[in-house]
Amino acid sequence: MKDLIGFFDSGLGGISVLHEAHRIMPNENYIFFGDNKNAPYGPRPLEEIRALTAAGIQRLLDREVKALVIACNTATSAYAEIVREQHPELPIVGMEPALKPAHYARHGGKVIVLATDATLRLSKFERLMERYGDDVIPVVGEGLVELVESGRAHSQEAADQVRKLLRPYADMQVDSVVLGCTHYPYLRGHIQAVFPGAQLFDGRDGTAMRLKSLLEEHGLTSDDRPGTIEYQTSGGEETLALMKRLMAWLD
Ligand code: DGL
Repeated sequence: MKDLIGFFDSGLGGISVLHEAHRIMPNENYIFFGDNKNAPYGPRPLEEIRALTAAGIQRLLDREVKALVIACNTATSAYAEIVREQHPELPIVGMEPALKPAHYARHGGKVIVLATDATLRLSKFERLMERYGDDVIPVVGEGLVELVESGRAHSQEAADQVRKLLRPYADMQVDSVVLGCTHYPYLRGHIQAVFPGAQLFDGRDGTAMRLKSLLEEHGLTSDDRPGTIEYQTSGGEETLALMKRLMAWLD
């Protein structure tokens, strides 16, 4: 019987989403694949992101997953429609910057959307902006994925880079910051430090809830034993260790 839920990301970001899914559905069996060797995807051209995402997702499909989570805003923007067309029978959950809840939580100030270059330039985000784009400032999180991937998310260097990117808006009334990349929840503390009064939004809980309801709809839930997590990477052993460390850090 098909039993695994596949999680894909360009790297370590998807672990932040897996953590939330495992928190609300601890009885499921998960397989996570991070394409760490090729991260970051964000600065790459669309065709390259599509080819890398296709190859990564294929590894999970080869394991006959019962559902797939594209735990990456960038890969979702570039490839979710294609994989959905190719596998109409498979429950697939993608991600997008949580601009909608941030838009409704506004109280006269700005909404900053911090995401990768690709997420902000592809048409999925354009459509989101058409609906919820009032007073939105999109900011490319230059260098942030690299800091997380190299195990420096909680370093002074990461705090400095976040400050450098967000400082131009520090004097504005910023009501909320959308963490539009799954790598950014590890940087929450640095982001909040720049905007102490702002509410931070990310798509992790919404994605986990969507997965749960899709599994229920398809009669695919497992609830009779403790689940397992298998970690895979195109990187090395030290990357696997970092995945587990970040998973524990999120507890
Ligand atoms: N974690 C990914 C996202 O949510 C992308 C990071 C990258 O590889 O640029 O967009």
